[in-house]
Amino acid sequence: MVLASTSISHQSSLQVALRRLSAIKVDSGSLSTKVVTMSAPSGPPRAPWRDLLGSHIEQTPGCEFTIATIGYNAQQHPVPRLRTCACRGFFPELELNAKGQEAMDQQVEGGANPPVFESDMLSFTTDARMDKLPQLESSGHATEVVFWLKDLMTQWRVKGTAYAIGNPSGEDTEEEKLSRTEIKKGLRVKGNTDSDIAKWTWEKAVTKYFANHSPIARGFFRSPPPGQPRSSTPSQLDLKLGQKVLDLHDPVARANFRVVIIRPEEVECLDLTDQENGKRWNWTLIDGSDGSRWDEAELWP
Ligand SMILES: Cc1cc2nc3c(=O)[nH]c(=O)nc-3n(C[C@H](O)[C@H](O)[C@H](O)COP(=O)(O)O)c2cc1C
Repeated sequence: MVLASTSISHQSSLQVALRRLSAIKVDSGSLSTKVVTMSAPSGPPRAPWRDLLGSHIEQTPGCEFTIATIGYNAQQHPVPRLRTCACRGFFPELELNAKGQEAMDQQVEGGANPPVFESDMLSFTTDARMDKLPQLESSGHATEVVFWLKDLMTQWRVKGTAYAIGNPSGEDTEEEKLSRTEIKKGLRVKGNTDSDIAKWTWEKAVTKYFANHSPIARGFFRSPPPGQPRSSTPSQLDLKLGQKVLDLHDPVARANFRVVIIRPEEVECLDLTDQENGKRWNWTLIDGSDGSRWDEAELWP
């Protein structure tokens, strides 16, 4: 178990080093157009918990979390809704598998985005037809995810807001426009790379996540509508189980495919490695007139 006060203070110095970076401007336009320009060198401070959570995710093959949204029952009372999702790491720094890389190189003009951005925002992929996206939209995008990493005896809770990108109509839809605006607030520029930033597009960022799925997993996004009765035959004949999708731009699958990005506001780590001396840390994002900062507190477990 790696959690120690030394790693936290080391992360704090990283945070200071990155505080000099300033805001990124994202202009409007369709998914296929150039969408990100930098107005000044910066971004939010690097979160003090980021490297530790990142290393825990890397040490956990096939890392999953439980993600909560708020739904409404028949009486219109707010109710929690939870499900398991595969964690895809921090946006947009997805490590492509070999086949995904090959598909990006062959099918995307100019290949994948240049690696100019990083963030403290976790990502996962989903199907727009599932319940979680409308639940996020109807509840101020509020979410919480929890990881129980048993091999590391550590629980992580990440509270914040979540936004989906990947609508093929791009910023013609209000939701996509809102998502990009909110996500860009959490992006940090890695180094002084203006020419590369000009080449970065939202479409390529989403396509990379699609490419990272196997052909059969891409086929899930051409399945009959999730959660609908199996007795009802889909009117769209393209929608069947067990399809393999090789085309990264498959219009039927891409209409349903979304990447969800979680902007953390509060993070908590519970380290139970030492049963006699459990440790618990909490970090809260504080917005100030001179930018945001993470407040750190060690708590009784
Ligand atoms: C191991 C595992 C991994 C899963 N990964 C995802 C995922 O990455 N994205 C996703 O939308 N659903 C995933 N699911 C399915 C969800 O748990 C859930 O059934 C689905 O998202 C529908 O939920 P909703 O209608 O509440 O949105 C996964 C399920 C399991 C058991």
